[in-house]
Amino acid sequence: MRNKIEKIKDDALQELEGVSDEDALNDVYVRYLGRKGVLTQYLRGISRLPADERPLAGKEANRIKGIIEGAVKQAGEKLEASGFDPKDALDVSLPGRPMERGNLHPVTKINNEICEIFVRLGFDIAEGPEVETDYYNFEALNFPRYHPARDMQDTLYVSDSIVLRTHTSPIQVRTMQERQPPVRIIAPGKVFRCDSDITHTPMFHQVEGLLVDVNISFGDLKGMLTTFVHQMFDKKTGLRFRPSFFPFTEPSAEVDILCVICRGKGCRVCSHTGWLEVLGSGMVHPAVFEFAGYDTSKYTGFAFGMGVERIAMLKYGIDDIRKFFDNDLRFLRQF
Ligand code: DAH
Repeated sequence: MRNKIEKIKDDALQELEGVSDEDALNDVYVRYLGRKGVLTQYLRGISRLPADERPLAGKEANRIKGIIEGAVKQAGEKLEASGFDPKDALDVSLPGRPMERGNLHPVTKINNEICEIFVRLGFDIAEGPEVETDYYNFEALNFPRYHPARDMQDTLYVSDSIVLRTHTSPIQVRTMQERQPPVRIIAPGKVFRCDSDITHTPMFHQVEGLLVDVNISFGDLKGMLTTFVHQMFDKKTGLRFRPSFFPFTEPSAEVDILCVICRGKGCRVCSHTGWLEVLGSGMVHPAVFEFAGYDTSKYTGFAFGMGVERIAMLKYGIDDIRKFFDNDLRFLRQF
């Protein structure tokens, strides 16, 4: 009896020695310790022994059971430590998983393109807060108190004196208060207006530009913006500077480009005028320099501002601004 149980132990330990994977280990476990396993059968057989032999045989069998269980556990740990066999984890015949390629949002792309053009022309990037004071958004930009742009229709008010900025122009004043001329900055950012239709969204993006130095003339403004339009669209794109009004510039001009669709012949996109408005601009109003603390007898400068979505619509031929904000992947994947 004693020899038999010793043999079971020796066999089990020897087999466990040679175990090289999980399946083999399980197999050994089942054959020795399972419900019909050799050792289990042996334990059951003890009840048929003479009564005086049972206690010792039972004790011995349980001791051996403990040894085999310990050895199984150890063999399992050894397998785990040696790492699993890559054969089991990798089916080299499976088709590969396609890697989805992400891309930038069209508005981000155009915004970056605009900024890159001006950075190449020597402009620095400036920033300002999206929640702005009435002072920087209007007052310091020479908006008279009764100016319609202050109307609740357009402006989203946070409180009497705090607004969501309606344009990026307040960054002009903030920058001038921090730096002395020469100043050459562009300021990209989100702006907010209480407005929504196929050409307006309550939030959109603008890029503001400001250049201040001695002897800056309207000719410099024209040259700079012509260079910009030619780089943004192409060299054949015609421009015109149309007299306009902004409280913070004098004189002011809006810049139109020859319609990118019909090249001036007249079509639906340009409302049969042959021209498309792309930006506002002008010579910085002396009153704005006063707010900034600049010497108006010494310095002149020009400023401009454009809507990024508008440029993106013209460049990509998109007729509804809201498409940029629907987050429809079928639309976004085209850029
Ligand atoms: N802030 C103007 C707007 O939102 C755009 C603009 C016009 C900016 C003329 C300027 C400028 O800097 O000189 O409509």
